[in-house]
Amino acid sequence: MKTTQAVAAAQALETKIKARTARVGIVGLGYVGLPLAVEFAKAGFNVTGIDVSGEKTSRVNKGDSYIGDIASSTLGPLVDAGKLRATTDFSVVADLDTINICVPTPLRKTKDPDMSFIVSSCQEITKHFRPGSLVILESTTYPGTTDEVVLPMLTSNGLKVGEDFFLCFSPERVDPGNPRYQTSNIPKVVGGVTPACTEMGRLFYSQALQTVVPVASTQVAEMVKLLENTFRMINIGLVNEIALMCDRMGINVWEVIDAAATKPFGFMPFYPGPGLGGHCIPIDPFYLSWKTKQAGIEARFIELAGYINGQMPHFVVDKVQNTLNDAGKPVKGSRIHIMGVAYKRDIDDIRESPALDVMLLLKKRGAVLSYSDPHVPHMDLDGHSLESLPETAAAEADCVVIITDHTAFDYAALAQRAPLIVDSRNALKGIRKTT
Ligand SMILES: NC(=O)c1ccc[n+]([C@@H]2O[C@H](COP(=O)([O-])OP(=O)(O)OC[C@H]3O[C@@H](n4cnc5c(N)ncnc54)[C@H](O)[C@@H]3O)[C@@H](O)[C@H]2O)c1
Repeated sequence: MKTTQAVAAAQALETKIKARTARVGIVGLGYVGLPLAVEFAKAGFNVTGIDVSGEKTSRVNKGDSYIGDIASSTLGPLVDAGKLRATTDFSVVADLDTINICVPTPLRKTKDPDMSFIVSSCQEITKHFRPGSLVILESTTYPGTTDEVVLPMLTSNGLKVGEDFFLCFSPERVDPGNPRYQTSNIPKVVGGVTPACTEMGRLFYSQALQTVVPVASTQVAEMVKLLENTFRMINIGLVNEIALMCDRMGINVWEVIDAAATKPFGFMPFYPGPGLGGHCIPIDPFYLSWKTKQAGIEARFIELAGYINGQMPHFVVDKVQNTLNDAGKPVKGSRIHIMGVAYKRDIDDIRESPALDVMLLLKKRGAVLSYSDPHVPHMDLDGHSLESLPETAAAEADCVVIITDHTAFDYAALAQRAPLIVDSRNALKGIRKTT
């Protein structure tokens, strides 16, 4: 039986969410957190972002966006209107009604989940947490995290979930650089620890996002994200293996995929590339395989796709070596210019980018490297800092390697000026020129 106090706390929160007077907190103001904070501020809520990075919080407070999908002209007016502010001080949690946790979930070197960001942010939240609030974990993680890691911390002060406070998991599906689908129009899956938690989560998101998809539990919601990303990782692994086969047999894999994609049912095209990149696809499936190992189940598809995708940078480097060899040049001492180092088109994120692997492999073989990327002005490679050069620098190189197919690149000009091109992406099939 719920206490009268618990019923009153739930009703009060519901009323505040519906009236959009609930004070919203977003912990972690990165690619996921900042767009979410902006969406709730646009919907009329007072939003406080909390981040351990003082640089990010001060940029937010100046209305100066550091996330490609959020224009400063969108952020600035929300900050000026007092709808959005940011701080490094977790004591503000005491004044918040809702808290979304959007902190990183990387892998350790051993491919085990690194839960330290979730744990440290929850420790800080717990210190200031009060009854009547809603907490939603959004960071991608293994099934069971919300119930096994977050819940015990939040109940350590004696509060009861589903009564004194509400706890959900909602996977983040943001796709940076995607002009069609952004935070507001990507359907939001949410699952709570109890039915009351799910309902509170549904009510909350439905104020700012177009479609909310409630599911029965936090574990279902956690697993949804891992299914989505594992599906992508495995299909990319499959098509990468098909690409390796086609290459060996002298078949044009792009033509094969395009023709297969004319089938109006039962086929979905995936495209080969130089390897997996970003914070999600190369990482998230290993959260699942780590968890299933504990249940005695080997995630064999994941391990195999991980292996094949991990071979792709080597395949690209072999292509570079063969291309130079055909021109009578060794890799050692050759000037190799990389076009695009971000992990995908039109974004500035180089986390896990296959360009880093390709560049390191070429460097080990003695290549002299340079790069152009309009979204990544500087980068660090193996302790050395590199600056992006204008695209015209391609003309000076012995070989150009296209890794990221940014739309800003002038591919026709590149085809005219570059002596040898190794194209590891699909977008340029019309102008590929390798000799
Ligand atoms: N980037 C994507 O496209 C994407 C898409 C879907 C899901 N995700 C998932 O969302 C989560 C966040 O990813 P992201 O790309 O936004 O990461 P990010 O690195 O861009 O942002 C995370 C932010 O959290 C801050 N932070 C770290 N520890 C903190 C702490 N203890 N307290 C407060 N703030 C802290 C960091 O300073 C950073 O600003 C991850 O679990 C990721 O897998 C990311």
